[in-house]
Parts: sequence; structure tokens; C-alpha cells
Amino acid sequence: MIQAHAGGAGAREIGRTGFRLARCRQSFGASRGIALATKNTLPGIDAFPDIARGLVDVEEALTDTVLVADPSISETTSYLLKAGGKRVRPALVLLGSKFGDSIGESAIDAAVAVELIHLGSLYHDDVIDESDTRRGLPSVNANWNNTIAILAGDFLLSKASEIGARLGREASELLARTLGDLVKGELRELTNAYNLESGLDDYWHVIENKTAALISASARLGGMVGGTSQQVTNDLAEYGFRIGIVFQIADDLLDLVSTEEEIGKPPGIDLVEGTYTLPVIHGLNGPNGDQLGKLLTPFTPAADGSRRNEIGDAELTEIRDLLRESGSITYAMDQAREHLAAADQALARLPANPVRDALEAMGEFILARVPLPS
Ligand code: IPE
Ligand code: IPE
Ligand code: MG
Ligand code: MG
Repeated sequence: MIQAHAGGAGAREIGRTGFRLARCRQSFGASRGIALATKNTLPGIDAFPDIARGLVDVEEALTDTVLVADPSISETTSYLLKAGGKRVRPALVLLGSKFGDSIGESAIDAAVAVELIHLGSLYHDDVIDESDTRRGLPSVNANWNNTIAILAGDFLLSKASEIGARLGREASELLARTLGDLVKGELRELTNAYNLESGLDDYWHVIENKTAALISASARLGGMVGGTSQQVTNDLAEYGFRIGIVFQIADDLLDLVSTEEEIGKPPGIDLVEGTYTLPVIHGLNGPNGDQLGKLLTPFTPAADGSRRNEIGDAELTEIRDLLRESGSITYAMDQAREHLAAADQALARLPANPVRDALEAMGEFILARVPLPS
């Protein structure tokens, strides 16, 4: 499905750097193939040829950044980019920018910068969560080791700053602050790991910072680089924030109710890692709380101090049944729907146009990923 492009006589004529770039893109497997996959994943994007083209440009710029910029480290820095991903954040930048000017170089830079922050944070997140699988492949930490994953992730974040700096001071500050928010969210999640008492305040703090902040910043940056009014930019940011929350609630539900084939990683990881998400917090405070608490009580820490709940398929099924019985899955879905409604309210303040319809469809798509029995 992935087609190589460039190369051949034309590539040989474009000078040393260009030749290297063309060859690298070719061996990368062609960014164009990945862009096509992206087009198929996100609803409504196909209706905008300029966004489809912009996403191809984003893909090529990402490839250049992680593969060509420094081939000596590209095996690890390009690994997760090649593995796929939905490119939700770049798509949001491009859609947001269409409320203003046509898609230009700044929009592509902004889209690349947010995806690089996202990518770098995934490298780090899999170390933090001790996850072995990402995007259907062994994670970087599993394939190499934690040190490599941290350093390669740092490299991607450094490239995000470098590219973000081209966008000027306000955008650079936003990107830096958002990365700080992401770290704050991850830290709160870690300090609360295995805490059966952790409550809703902690949960909202975690997901607003680790996930919603970057999705909001992507939509805001779109408005900024498109040169929209302050009001439009703020409404885009509010929309992004709300769908960011929906996004993480959906991700948390997927960990509980989906299969490995559906999410590209084994389900139940959050429970093993002691990350108690919205349905679990609700369940722990409901009629099945004691039973759930027993299933989630961690085993004695290992000699190296690490902890892992021992949750196999049988325990996961039991926990899932208890959560369904106490209405906790439904509760989390209802919370997600409320935030989706707030996202739609922010959209309603934006000018009515096909881009706004695409943003609305994207919100619904995020929640529709959760496979729930009817
Ligand atoms: C995964 O994000 C991490 C979360 C914030 C839940 P995505 O679901 O956007 O990951 P990719 O980029 O499509 O792999
Ligand atoms: C979201 O956290 C990832 C980041 C903010 C980097 P998770 O730990 O929930 O994401 P997944 O489930 O590993 O993708
Ligand atoms: Mg994780
Ligand atoms: Mg995590």
C-alpha cells in the first residue's frame, strides 16, 4: 500500500543534499503513503483538497525532520513516525487556519511542531507507563531501551522548539507552556498511581494537562497562523480543549473495553500501571467499590521498587463487568458527551462553513471510536 516516490534520474540531478533527502524519503517508505492513511482516518478531510495537500506537506516536513536532519540517529527518531498515527493535531491546525488565510508555510510549521511534541511525548509516555506496544509495534523502550527512548524523545521535542521558533514569540511561548502542561499532567498521574483514593479533581487535572492542552493549543495555533480574530482563536482553543477531554476519556474507556486489535496495544494497561481513570474512579466510589478495590490492590513492590497490579484477562473481565454493573462505563460516556456538547457550543460561535462541519464531525468521530454494546 505504501508507495515509494522520488529517486531515479530526477533525484540524481538535485544536488547532494537533495539526493540524500530523496533517498531517505524513498527508504522511509514514502510520506505520501502515510498521508493517504491519514486522509482515510479522519472524517471530512477529503472534502478539502488544500488540507489533504497540507497534510502531505506536513508528512514530508516531519520525515525531513526526523530522518534527514541527522541520519545517524534516524533509526530511533523516525521509528514511531513510520508506525502511523492519526495526525489529529496537525489536522486541527490546518482546519483552524482555514478560518483565516489560506494554508501557508506557517500553518505547516505549526502542524509539524505540534505533532513533534505529541510524538516526543509518546516516546516518553511509554517509558513512564512501561508500555511495550505503540501504534501496533513494539514501543521504542521495548525495541531498544529506556535511555534511547528518552533521548530520541528529547530530540523530537528539540525539533518542535526549533520549528516553533519560526512562528514567533507568542506561538513559541504557547508551545513551551503546553509542553509544561503535558509534563504537569503526567507528573500528577504518576504521583497518584495506585492510589485508590484518587478522585475526580485529580483525574480532570491529569487529562486537561496531559492531553487537552496540546489539542487545544493545536486548534489555537491554527487560528493564530491563519490570522483570525482573537475571538475566533479563543473559540477554536475552547473547542480543542473540550474535544481533548473527550479524546482522553475515550482513550481511557478504550483501555477497558476494547481489544488489542482495535487499539494496537493490549487493553488493561492503565489498570496494571495503577492509573485509575474516570470509570474506575466512579466504580470505586459506587456499590462495587470494595470488590473493585480488592482486584486493584497492588502486589508488594518488587526489589527495584517498581509496582505492577497483576491483572490478567480474567481480572480485566471481572473489573469490566463490575464497572458496567455500577453504571461507570455509562457515566464516563455521559461525561464525554457533555464535553462534546460544550465543544459544539464553542463551534456554534464560529462562522458557519464546511470547515466548522468537519470539526463537528471530528468530535463525534473521537467518541465513536469507543466500541460499546448497544
Ligand atoms: C495517544 O494519542 C495519546 C493520547 C493523548 C491519548 P493519539 O490517539 O492521537 O495517538 P496517535 O498519534 O494516533 O498514535
Ligand atoms: C496520554 O497518556 C499520552 C500523553 C499525554 C503523552 P496515556 O498514557 O493515557 O496514553 P496512551 O494510552 O499510552 O496512548
Ligand atoms: Mg501511556
Ligand atoms: Mg501515560
